[in-house]
Parts: sequence; C-alpha cells; structure tokens
Amino acid sequence: MSRLVVVSNRIALPEEGKASAGGLAVGILDALKSTGGVWFGWDGEISEIGEEEELVNTQEHDGITYASFGLNQNDYDLYYLQFSNAVIWPAFHYRLDLVQYQREAWEGYCSVNRLLAERLQPMLKPDDILWIHDYHLLPFAAELRKLGVNNPIGFFLHIPFPTPEIFNALPPHDALLTMLCQYDLLGFQTENDRLAFLDSVSQVTQIESRAAKQHRAFDNDFATEVYPIGIEPDSIKEMASGPLPPKMAAMKRDLGDIKNIIACERLDYSKGLPERFLAYESLLENYPQHRSNIRYTQIAPTSRGDVQAYQDIRHQLETEAGRINGKYGTLGWTPLYYLNQHFDRRLLMKIFRLTDVALITPLRDGMNLVAKEYVAAQNPDDPGVLVLSRFAGAANELTSALIVNPYDRDDVAAALDKALTMPREERVARYNDMMAVLRRNDIANWRKTFLKDLQALSSPHGNEG
Ligand code: G6P
Repeated sequence: MSRLVVVSNRIALPEEGKASAGGLAVGILDALKSTGGVWFGWDGEISEIGEEEELVNTQEHDGITYASFGLNQNDYDLYYLQFSNAVIWPAFHYRLDLVQYQREAWEGYCSVNRLLAERLQPMLKPDDILWIHDYHLLPFAAELRKLGVNNPIGFFLHIPFPTPEIFNALPPHDALLTMLCQYDLLGFQTENDRLAFLDSVSQVTQIESRAAKQHRAFDNDFATEVYPIGIEPDSIKEMASGPLPPKMAAMKRDLGDIKNIIACERLDYSKGLPERFLAYESLLENYPQHRSNIRYTQIAPTSRGDVQAYQDIRHQLETEAGRINGKYGTLGWTPLYYLNQHFDRRLLMKIFRLTDVALITPLRDGMNLVAKEYVAAQNPDDPGVLVLSRFAGAANELTSALIVNPYDRDDVAAALDKALTMPREERVARYNDMMAVLRRNDIANWRKTFLKDLQALSSPHGNEG
C-alpha cells in the first residue's frame, strides 16, 4: 500500500497529547495510524531565525513521522494572519465585509506555499499519496507540480466554499481556482460547497464534465466529491463517561435541578455568538418560567487574537454577557456563564454529558464537529437535546436535532424552550436517530472513502500545470 503524506497548516505533535487534539487532528491521526506515513505542518511557533536556516524537524512516533517547521514573523503575518485569516476565512464564511485584502498578503501566502512545497518535496517517495488539508494550502498542489511532483494529490476543505458572488469577489479568485484545479481530487463537506466551487470555476473558464464528478478545466483533470467529516463515537463516549473529577462532582451537586445549556467553540465571528446571546435574552424575556431554573454556559477560548475582527467580537461578547447578567441576574442566580478559556477535551466531553441542551448556532460552518461530539457524549437513557443552526454542515446529517435559523432570535428561543421541556421519550428517539448517522459515517469512513477515491484516480499526473 502507498505511504500517506498528510499536510495541514497546523500539526498536533505527539507530546501535546491526544486528549487535547481537535477534530481535524483526530481525523488525520486516524488516517496515518492505519497506513503509516508522514504528517507535515506548522508547529505553531514563530521562529526568529532567517528563512534559509529554518529546518524541518522530524520525529517518529507510533509509525508516524511528524515533520514540523516554524514560521518567521513575516510569513506568519502575511500567510497566516492576513491572507488565510483576514481574507479567505471571512470570505468563505460569507463575510466579505470583514475581508482585509492586500496584494502583499496574497504574495506572501503564495510564497509560503512555495516554500513549504520545497521543504516537503525532498521527503517524498514516488508512490506516496498526498492529502492536503484546508484553506491555508489552496496553492499547495500547484507548487508541488512546478517542482515536478507527479504523485496523486488530494485536497479536503474543512470550511464552506462560498457561492460565486462571494468567491469571485476575491481579487485573486481566478488564480486560486487555477491552483485548486491542479489537485486530483477535491473533497468538500457538503454538496452545496462542491456545487459552489464548480459554479465559481464555470464563471471564469469553460469546465468540461468527463463523467459524474470528473471534470476538466484550466488544462487539468480533477474529480470532486462530498465527504462529510465524522467523529469517533466510541472514543467520545468513553471520554464522556467514567468518574467525574472532584470539582465537577461538587458543581453537579450545587446545580441541583437547574437545567444546563452548553455551547463551546473558538471565539470566532462565524459562530454567531452575539446573535445567540440575544436569543438567550429572548428566552429569558418571553419565557419567564425558565428564569432562575436554567444556566447557559458559553465556553469560547480566544482564537486568532492578532486579527482585528477577533478582538472586536471578543469585546462585543464581554459587553453583552455583562449586560444580560446585569439585567436578568438575581442575588442567587447568574443566567449566563461566559468562559473565555480553553478546556481539556476529555473534561469537555464529561461536561457535555452533564448538560441538558447544546446550543450550536453558527452563521456559517463547514461541519461543526462539536455538534456531533455533543450527541455522542450523551447518556443514551437520558440524553440532552441538540439545538443546531441550519447553516452548519452538520445540519445536513443531524436532521433529528432542533434545527434553527440563527438570525431569528425568537425561533432560537422557541427551540430552547422546546429543548428544555422535551419529554425523555422524544429525546431518546432523536438521540438514537442521530447516533445511527454518526456511527454510519464515522471518522474512519470519512478517511477510507477519501483515500479509496484518491487511490483509484492515481493515474500519473503530467507536469503540464
Ligand atoms: C478551523 C480550521 C482549521 C484550524 C482551526 C483552528 O477548524 O478549519 O484548519 O486549524 O480552525 O484555527 P487556527 O487558526 O488556530 O489553526
């Protein structure tokens, strides 16, 4: 079997421990464990040394070679902060108003992709298959092709792909599409994302469809497919059950009959947090019977704090949390707990199991693995209820959640009321439906179907691109 080489912007080094690895890292580790191979990515550090001295550090662990590198300050600014996270991220989440485009950042983004391709190329073997992940690396295959790499290269986009009206507003949209078409296989979270990509291509060049989902554009053949990313339901279940740490056991006792609403995500404007706070306020205002009987805990660790839009959303949330608690809190009751902190994944799964409702209402989200993890963490005999935005990729699969429009605070408040009062029988039925989906399309299935399709396409690729 071919060796698998995975490339992602961020790498989870073995010493960081599996317990803290997020969904993307779990998926990649699962893939690499089954085939052995290389994981190439940024170690998250900003190195002070000059570009020419920056080396790839390799370490072996459980049959996987971790090849990591640092980024210097200039590369971090242009490639990571500015182009990836202040151009692509907002645009792909339908927030053109937050795009801060500068030509210099686009050039930096391309040159870091080139540099990374140059670093990876000497490590490659002729029959390796390459799997590249996410929006930081849209030009990566194009750069490898320039270096004469003919191996099969697949790409998976973890975030949404926007419709052409949005995508083609990006100044380098045509260059990005040309680069993307140099992958052999492009994987998306949903059919809407896949179609939006093809629509964007067809607006700038002729696209021929060879067979279903096999295309030719910009003189390249490529395939597209939908692979909704899943989780490992059994490992989540295992993390969620078992004894509670003493502090949590005490907290559970203190809560008594109070019903708990939980939400957890990186502090990101795509997650719909201010809208969600207002929906909670609408619940408190219009369903006063819940006052004093519920608690909403919002966990939102800071993310990409060097980008202005992330600083702005943080201030907005802090203000709103204070306002809502000031308005509705009493001497004995705090309605909203806002925790701007990182939680260990194992602990989080236990918290999920203890809570009655998860409120996951992004304005746009590629998939949202937290929604899936919340369901898998539940006690099958007395599960909590998932309230889920229709704009999360997960809503395509988790149709037994209470699906809401996050822009409609009264709709979300009504769903919360329904969730808080839902009889156990209905909760169990919805949970069983969702677990069947999560088991059918788990993380192993995601990895297997992508790699099987990529392997099947592995006719030698010319260097014509
Ligand atoms: C999203 C992206 C990932 C990214 C993660 C954390 O899930 O799809 O590619 O790694 O956010 O963001 P960060 O900027 O901290 O890597």
